[in-house]
Amino acid sequence: MAFETITVETRDHVGVVRLDRPEALNALNAALLGELATAIARFEDDAAIGAVVLTGSEKAFAAGADIKEMAERTYPQTLIDDFMAGTWLAASRARKPVIAAVSGYALGGGCELAMMCDIVLATESARFGLPEITLGVIPGAGGTQRLVRAVGKAKAMEMILSGRFMTAEEAERAGLVSRIVPDAELLDEAVKVGEKIASMSLPAVIHAKASVNRAFETSLEEGLLYERSVFYSLFATEDQKEGMAAFVEKRQARFRDR
Ligand code: CAA
Repeated sequence: MAFETITVETRDHVGVVRLDRPEALNALNAALLGELATAIARFEDDAAIGAVVLTGSEKAFAAGADIKEMAERTYPQTLIDDFMAGTWLAASRARKPVIAAVSGYALGGGCELAMMCDIVLATESARFGLPEITLGVIPGAGGTQRLVRAVGKAKAMEMILSGRFMTAEEAERAGLVSRIVPDAELLDEAVKVGEKIASMSLPAVIHAKASVNRAFETSLEEGLLYERSVFYSLFATEDQKEGMAAFVEKRQARFRDR
């Protein structure tokens, strides 16, 4: 299937999805969200892929849900469609790590999409914001929940109630962004992180991601129990034997995802 609103490529073991609606600053409409979900599902199914990079243009990662498409929605239609479920959730449901490479605007649903990813790299030009309040609504793709967890209540409240944007620098200081990288290196750097992750044992990567995410879902005691049992289970893999033998033999491990 040819895509119309995104471009998709594979770089070694990393799947790269670029949001591509420049005329609308990559606003997330139904067509784009459907294609994004399809692309992510394909990379999830592809045994050669170990991580996915999600990026946009220099000017915009994504300027939010498509306001023009949403403007005439009614409440019953929105409720019955379960508008923010379905394809909106694709990135957050991926089991393989997803890295957001953000330049320019990451607003509303675009900021929420970045927050669904596991790692966020950004350029100096990145601007994060949840301006839904200026449209008479509130964030609907996880913003009120994920932003609080990422940057704490004070900053999240100010951004969500006033619509204030955060610079890349502020977002990095606050913990929303893992690293700021030069404009020209954004995609390469994100792919490099993806390649590094893809070189690890996939069962360990899947468990590590799920275990970190568990920290947001449960009590510390339950989370520690979860981590411990997952840690124990990894001793059932060939990759654990390989990884530890390689260390002892002072050589590079060659993981086979078994
Ligand atoms: N939906 C639809 N179209 C959008 C859009 C969006 N979210 N954001 C930008 N566009 C369109 C503009 O309408 C414009 O199209 P036309 O040329 O046809 O008028 C084009 O993209 C370029 O945008 P601007 O001319 O506005 O560019 P700018 O550089 O002057 O401003 C901006 C950039 C500050 C990002 C501004 O476009 C803007 O404020 N966009 C909306 C941001 C927003 O409110 N996002 C939240 C959406 S609601 C949401 O996401 C709900 C949710 O929780 C899921």
